[in-house]
Amino acid sequence: MKITKTLLAASLLSAATPTFAGEVEVLHWWTAGGEANAISVLKTMLEQQGYSWIDFGVEGGGGESAMRVLKTRAVSGNPPSAANIKGLDIQEWARLGFLTSLNQVSDKENWDNVIPNIISNVMKYDGQYVAVPVNVHRINWLWANAEVLKKAGASVPTTLDEFFVTADKIKAIGVIPLAHGGQPWQNATLFEVIALDVLGSEDYIKAFVDLDMEILGSDKMVEAFTQFKRVLSYVDDDAPGRNWLEATSMVIKGEAGMQIMGDWAKGEFSAAGKIPGKDYICAPALGTSGKFTYNVDSFAFFELHDEENFEAQKALASTILNPKFQEVFNLNKGSIPVRVDMDMSHFDQCALDSMQEFKSSAKTGDLVPSMAHGMSTTSYVQSAMFDVITNFFNDSDETPEQAVQRLVKVVKSSM
Ligand code: GAL
Repeated sequence: MKITKTLLAASLLSAATPTFAGEVEVLHWWTAGGEANAISVLKTMLEQQGYSWIDFGVEGGGGESAMRVLKTRAVSGNPPSAANIKGLDIQEWARLGFLTSLNQVSDKENWDNVIPNIISNVMKYDGQYVAVPVNVHRINWLWANAEVLKKAGASVPTTLDEFFVTADKIKAIGVIPLAHGGQPWQNATLFEVIALDVLGSEDYIKAFVDLDMEILGSDKMVEAFTQFKRVLSYVDDDAPGRNWLEATSMVIKGEAGMQIMGDWAKGEFSAAGKIPGKDYICAPALGTSGKFTYNVDSFAFFELHDEENFEAQKALASTILNPKFQEVFNLNKGSIPVRVDMDMSHFDQCALDSMQEFKSSAKTGDLVPSMAHGMSTTSYVQSAMFDVITNFFNDSDETPEQAVQRLVKVVKSSM
C-alpha cells in the first residue's frame, strides 16, 4: 500500500514537472548566508520547469576570484551558460564575441518596458540584450546594532561628524565601533561612500566615471583620503583579510556597532532572523542621504552551440525577470527588484527606502554608479584604484597627499 502511494506520488510529480534535456551552468559568488538562499531560488525555479542546474559558485566577496576562474574557462572554449558579469565588463565580453543575443526573449516579454533605461542600456550590446539584470543593490548604507547604540547612548549618525561622535561612544563601552574587512573591494566600498559624502554627486561622477584628473587630484580628494584614514581608526586590528560576512556577523552579534556596506549585508541580518528597526538599523551612510550609489547584479549569457542548452538559457533569462522570482530573490539578497512595476508589499522598510531613494535620486542627479562594484569604469581602472586605496589602507606612513598623487598617476596609465 505504502509503495503504491509513493509510486502514485512520483508519477503525479513527474506529470507536473516537464523534463527537458537542457541544462544551465551558472557562475556566481553567492556561496553563503542570505546570498546562497537567494541564488537557490533561481535553481529551484529552473528545475521546476524541467531544466538541470549546474552550480558554479566560486567563493569570494566582490567576485574577483569568480572573474578569474571565468576567464580561464572562457578562454579554453568552455564557458558556462551564464555568469554574474556586471557593468562595463558586459560590453567588453560582448565586444570579444563571447555573448549571445537574448532578443527572442526580451522582445516577447517587453523588457524595455519593465527595466529602467539606465540599467537596460548596460545590458545591451549593439542594441541586443546580452545580459539580464537581477537586482539593484545600494552601496551607501550604514548598518547598526540597535542594542549596542542604546547601551552606548549613541544615535544613528547622519553626517561624518556625527559618525565620529557615535563611534567614540561605542568605543567607550568596549565594543568595536566599525566592523570592516581589509580586502581591496571592501576598502574601495568604504572609500567610495566617504568620497561620495566629501565630493558630492557631481564631483564623484567626474572622478569615478569621467576620470577627470582635476577632481582626482583635488584637495577634496585629499580630504576624502584624510577622512577615510580617520574612519579606519575605528576598525579593529584583525580587519585585514576578513571577509564581509564575518564583519556583518560582528554587528549582528553586537561585537561591533556599525558596518558600512551594500545591502547584501541585510541578507545576512534577515538570514539570522533579525528585524530592521528593532534589532538593527539601516540608514544612509554618513552624510549621503538622498544620494544612491547603485550596483546592479546581472547575468551575461554566453554563446553555446547546443540547441537544448540554448532553450534552457532562454528559460533562465525569462525566469530572472519573472516577478515572483524578483520578489523572493531580492527578499533574500537584501537588494530591491530591478523591475519598476513590482508589488513591494512584502518588502521591509530598508527596501522601501531604497526603492524610494533609487527613484528620487535619479531626478536630482544623485544616482551614481559604484566604482568598487564595477559600475563606473573599466576593470583596469577599477583595479588601479583598488591598489591605491588598499595600499593606503595598509601603509600607515603614506599621507593622503601621496595617495592622491598615486591615484592620478595610476589612473592615467590604465586609461
Ligand atoms: C558585489 C555583488 C553583490 C555581493 C557583493 C559581496 O559585487 O554585486 O551581489 O555579492 O559583491 O560579495
